[in-house]
Amino acid sequence: MNSQGTTQGAARGRGTRIVHSITQVRRAVAAWHGQELTVGFVPTMGALHAGHRSLMRRSKRLCDRTVVSVFVNPTQFGPREDLRAYPRPLSADLKACREEGVDLVFVPSVATIYPEGFGTKLKVGDLGNLWEGRSRPGHFDGVATVVLKLFSIVTPDVAIFGQKDLQQSVVIRRMVSDLNLPVRVVVSPTVRENDGLALSSRNVYLDRLSRNASAGIYQSLRWARAQIKEGETRAGRLRTRMRRMIEDGGYFSLDYIGFCDPLTLTEKAGARRPLAILVAVKCVTPGPAQGRRYIDNLVIR
Ligand code: PAF
Repeated sequence: MNSQGTTQGAARGRGTRIVHSITQVRRAVAAWHGQELTVGFVPTMGALHAGHRSLMRRSKRLCDRTVVSVFVNPTQFGPREDLRAYPRPLSADLKACREEGVDLVFVPSVATIYPEGFGTKLKVGDLGNLWEGRSRPGHFDGVATVVLKLFSIVTPDVAIFGQKDLQQSVVIRRMVSDLNLPVRVVVSPTVRENDGLALSSRNVYLDRLSRNASAGIYQSLRWARAQIKEGETRAGRLRTRMRRMIEDGGYFSLDYIGFCDPLTLTEKAGARRPLAILVAVKCVTPGPAQGRRYIDNLVIR
């Protein structure tokens, strides 16, 4: 880092600037906007994988400049969720941003985002209490608060989120619409392993057997989609068989399977299109993955 708190990346093309202060982000983005360049933004908590890279590529296709933030946001972790153990492989993350030709990486400290005396928090309402929110009370309030702050710092034209966290993207869209924020939200398809497991920074914790069994999550979603396309609408029947596929072998226990409206996430009585099928499971295998949540979804239009 140099005296301005800036690290210059050995990057492709224009170069990747790494900055730590709000002023530096504001200056860079204001200069781009001054040249009528559009700015895409990918907010992340680091531990970047191919899923994040696909969001960066989407941003680069859509916009003239791309900003990525790397910030492990404490306000979206519950008291029983281990914030301290969250992976923070910063040099690998910066390398990934350079390789993807990101223009600016914003790596703020916790004190930069939440200075002493910070007290204003967003409440996302009922949407935040559904599905993931039921198991993670307050989680989406924390996500919305930090994303609103990041939007107000970065002032992007477009922000890109992954479909894997479907409820998060619905919460963000709601916030953008409720608060009239001048940003377009784009949701990019989930990136998967060859056997269908959705990419997640938590996948590294799965041992060989639970990793093999984790393929059942996506298999169950695909099976349900095929059934629905053939005319099945009985959510109960679909859920029973999906649960069996997910829990087969005893590596995972189901938290929920939701059949809901893709825009509002309200539950549907029957599995009728347009439909989002949400799945959340907990790994029960003794070892580093034990107790961790894995989520996935499919949207059927
Ligand atoms: O999806 C994530 O990584 C986080 O929830 C986000 C959007 C960066 C907010 O901290």
